[in-house]
Amino acid sequence: MSKPLFLFAKISFPALFLLLVLFLPLQIISQNLHDERSILLDVKQQLGNPPSLQSWNSSSSPCDWPEITCTNNTIIAISLHNKTIREKIPATICDLKNLIILDLSNNYIPGEFPDILNCSKLEYLLLLQNSFVGPIPADIDRLSRLRYLDLTANNFSGDIPTAIGRLRELFYLFLVQNEFNGTWPKEIGNLANLEHLVMAYNNKFLPSALPKEFGALKKLKYLWMKQANLIGEIPESFNNLWSLEHLDLSLNKLEGTIPGGMLMLKNLTNLYLFNNRLSGRIPMTIEALNLKEIDLSKNYLTGPIPTGFGKLQNLTSLNLFWNQLSGEIPANISLIPTLETFKVFSNQLSGVLPPAFGLHSELKRFEVSENKLSGKLPQHLCARGALLGVVVSNNNLSGEVPKSLGNCTSLLTIQLSNNCFSSEIPSGIWTSPDMVSVMLSGNSFSGALPSRLARNLSRVDISNNKFSGPIPAEISSWMNIGVLIANNNMLSGKIPVELTSLWNISILLLNGNQFSGELPSQIISWKSLTNLNLSRNKLSGLIPKALGSLTSLTYLDLSENQFSGQIPSELGHLKLNILDLSSNQLSGMVPIEFQYGGYEHSFLNNPKLCVNVGTLKLPRCDVKVVDSDKLSTKYLVMILIFALSGFLVVVFFTLFMVRDYHRKNHSRDHTTWKLTRFQNLDFDEHNILSGLTENNLIGRGGSGKVYRIANNRSGELLAVKRICNNRRLDHKLQKQFIAEVEILGTIRHSNIVKLLCCISNESSSLLVYEYMESQSLDRWLHGKKQRTSSMTSSVHNFVLDWPTRLQIAIGAAKGLRHMHEYCSAPIIHRDVKSSNILLDAEFNAKIADFGLAKMLVKQGEADTMSGIAGSYGYIAPGKTIKALFSTCFHFHNL
Ligand SMILES: *[C@@H]1O[C@H](CO)[C@@H](O)[C@H](O)[C@H]1NC(C)=O
Ligand SMILES: *[C@@H]1O[C@H](CO)[C@@H](O)[C@H](O)[C@H]1NC(C)=O
Ligand SMILES: *[C@@H]1O[C@H](CO)[C@@H](O)[C@H](O)[C@H]1NC(C)=O
Ligand SMILES: *[C@@H]1O[C@H](CO)[C@@H](O)[C@H](O)[C@H]1NC(C)=O
Ligand SMILES: *[C@@H]1O[C@H](CO)[C@@H](O)[C@H](O)[C@H]1NC(C)=O
Ligand SMILES: *[C@@H]1O[C@H](CO)[C@@H](O)[C@H](O)[C@H]1NC(C)=O
Ligand SMILES: *[C@@H]1O[C@H](CO)[C@@H](O)[C@H](O)[C@H]1NC(C)=O
Ligand SMILES: *[C@@H]1O[C@H](CO)[C@@H](O)[C@H](O)[C@H]1NC(C)=O
Ligand SMILES: *[C@@H]1O[C@H](CO)[C@@H](O)[C@H](O)[C@H]1NC(C)=O
Repeated sequence: MSKPLFLFAKISFPALFLLLVLFLPLQIISQNLHDERSILLDVKQQLGNPPSLQSWNSSSSPCDWPEITCTNNTIIAISLHNKTIREKIPATICDLKNLIILDLSNNYIPGEFPDILNCSKLEYLLLLQNSFVGPIPADIDRLSRLRYLDLTANNFSGDIPTAIGRLRELFYLFLVQNEFNGTWPKEIGNLANLEHLVMAYNNKFLPSALPKEFGALKKLKYLWMKQANLIGEIPESFNNLWSLEHLDLSLNKLEGTIPGGMLMLKNLTNLYLFNNRLSGRIPMTIEALNLKEIDLSKNYLTGPIPTGFGKLQNLTSLNLFWNQLSGEIPANISLIPTLETFKVFSNQLSGVLPPAFGLHSELKRFEVSENKLSGKLPQHLCARGALLGVVVSNNNLSGEVPKSLGNCTSLLTIQLSNNCFSSEIPSGIWTSPDMVSVMLSGNSFSGALPSRLARNLSRVDISNNKFSGPIPAEISSWMNIGVLIANNNMLSGKIPVELTSLWNISILLLNGNQFSGELPSQIISWKSLTNLNLSRNKLSGLIPKALGSLTSLTYLDLSENQFSGQIPSELGHLKLNILDLSSNQLSGMVPIEFQYGGYEHSFLNNPKLCVNVGTLKLPRCDVKVVDSDKLSTKYLVMILIFALSGFLVVVFFTLFMVRDYHRKNHSRDHTTWKLTRFQNLDFDEHNILSGLTENNLIGRGGSGKVYRIANNRSGELLAVKRICNNRRLDHKLQKQFIAEVEILGTIRHSNIVKLLCCISNESSSLLVYEYMESQSLDRWLHGKKQRTSSMTSSVHNFVLDWPTRLQIAIGAAKGLRHMHEYCSAPIIHRDVKSSNILLDAEFNAKIADFGLAKMLVKQGEADTMSGIAGSYGYIAPGKTIKALFSTCFHFHNL
């Protein structure tokens, strides 16, 4: 808007006009503008002359200043967006009598609600992203023309005043993410012009029900009250919200059923009610034909999926997972032409999968695991070539895997575990270019191992099937494989030396097959190997010394084979949590390191093994030399001394622990541990608690110690972080901690570390994560050199190269983005640093430690988290809108 032109608008003489335009800078401004300029210059002064307002000077017209908009020679709008303002806004700003728009967003303005209620013509007020505190003024209705009010991301607190219900012109009310700790008035229901009502992320609101008066908001298009401490039922009156397009009430504690009429709202396009306590059936009547996304996941819904969903010809995403839905999947859902995401896992659905899935739409995500489905997998899931994942584990599906999936080049994951599938899987699945994980365990698949794998395929689980034949020598080309689980099949032949060249592999389980011959004496790589299980085969010969150089190994099971000869003493150098060499034909002395506690079962059923010290119940190696009757007094004295000192150590240690314990927990004398699990675990708290030994300690951080512990059953490694609370968490904080941890527990993303469970008692909390082989980025950037072994090939001693760094950066960014934008509950990390970016065996970045930072800073001293960077609670409004309309894209176990 070129404001000064108004001055000359009445002059009709074109030449003069032109002339004047040329001399514009010398113009004389009107008296009114002159006054308004003085007001603004005074305001600038009171704001401390911020450099960002340097164009505000007394020799130019205010209408020329970029922050100012004029109409008819008067100022109507001021935008101070992102001008680094740190002072309060002076009340004199309202001396600008015609001000309509005031935008103060993205600054650091402190203090209470600004003193601007005298700006009587104000229609747009943007205060978002500042440092305001205190209540919204009870007489806010003095701004009687207000149409647009955005207070997002401040620290406003208290009640939302009833006066807000008298701002009859309001069409836009954004109160996202503040510290409101009272209630909001039902009078909001009087705002007949309201189109956007957004009060999300205010979980300090007193628990309140949705007022039935809101049903009167006939023009309401957006209602977004995610995480606003809502309780009670959704009122029936919500059936009258005719204009409603987006409804997000997720992450509250709503109960009861979904009002039947809500699925008849013809303008509704997005319905998010996940993470509530909704129960009952989903209403059968569905007229909301514009619905594009539905997320009712994580509730207590029962009954069938309404066939009416099949009428929704614009539906792209249907999320019904984590409910108790039963019955069959209506066939007409598979005919919807727009369907991309179909996630109904963890219900009790039965019957067959409609065969037309994938034929009529660009299906991307198909996740129906953990139900009671039977019959065949649909033949055409990938007919449009867009399929990213097939997740159907834990059902009763049978038959062959459709050949067409072997041609599906878009696939990232295929998860068929624990069904009754048979025959061979299409060979193309192994080489599909983007494939990351193939999970086939617990079926009757047959066939041989492929000789070639997709480049990024890192996780293969074919356990408990009927795979047969040898391990191909070409296995050395499986360069990125990190986990290979192939136990309980009919694989046979020798273990080829090529298998030992997989430098990325961390878990290799080949137990329960028919492998024979000797183990390769040379190990080419296996630098990352942590778990090796070769038990229940027919392997023979010596146990190779080279195993002793696998410094990462913590789980070694060679039991039930025919190994003979001595146990190489090199094995004693390993920090093994679990060692099982039982039921072989080993002989000679057990390495000295294993002769003490913890290895009682490791050597059973090897009649020729012996020990000379320690507690193992094995024959004495020196039994022939020293008769037990004639134990020399020297030995006796030595043993006594050992025993006595051992006893004393135990006594001292116990005393110390008890004292320490009492100091920390003066009021409690016994502790009970509570296990909160986020997925099916095959270990329990005892497994974890017994592993909290100094031997397993792998790190210490500001918030606690980190241990590496093997899952007793599967041998998979777990990282356990122990957070000791110096003071007991008060009950409320404890609950918040659990709630927060629970959110983390439900996130699945390949760039976010997977939290498996949380074990807590009064004095400490244990967080159990998947173990990250390459530890933290910090360690690679700033830390000591990685441990080197005598066997290393040069590849492994690298400093991070640039492609890897780029990969890590991209991975971390993806993880953050997922947290910010795609999760059902956006999460702000607030403590992103290299030590919180963990790396797996393939150097994929995984964000760790999020959310907790916030908790820890609340309950403890400020010193626990001195390094929180950035502005508190920043949510870019555009992003949050986006978050509103996106749902979490996740695959189980990916
Ligand atoms: C005053 O501000 C204008 C821009 O608004 C600029 O062009 C002019 O040079 C400034 N004058 C002085 C004296 O700083
Ligand atoms: C400018 O003023 C004239 C007359 O005073 C009025 O008709 C017109 O609507 C005004 N324009 C704006 C944009 O306010
Ligand atoms: C805010 O302004 C600064 C410069 O003053 C700029 O670097 C930054 O990108 C701006 N931020 C936004 C969100 O516009
Ligand atoms: C607001 O306007 C009223 C009446 O015009 C005046 O008495 C009062 O001082 C003004 N308030 C402020 C903060 O300027
Ligand atoms: C806003 O509240 C947060 C959390 O309660 C607090 O950390 C922050 O310091 C507060 N900011 C202001 C400006 O009061
Ligand atoms: C709400 O928060 C404010 C500021 O933190 C506090 O002064 C007030 O007592 C709180 N009110 C309630 C009901 O908790
Ligand atoms: C959508 O809302 C408009 C009013 O905003 C209403 O007139 C129209 O009838 C609604 N459409 C349907 C299909 O209900
Ligand atoms: C829904 O789909 C129909 C055709 O199937 C289309 O005409 C209509 O515009 C779509 N509605 C929206 C909101 O996209
Ligand atoms: C897979 O693709 C090949 C070549 O593109 C084609 O000949 C074959 O018929 C396809 N198989 C299936 C099952 O779609």
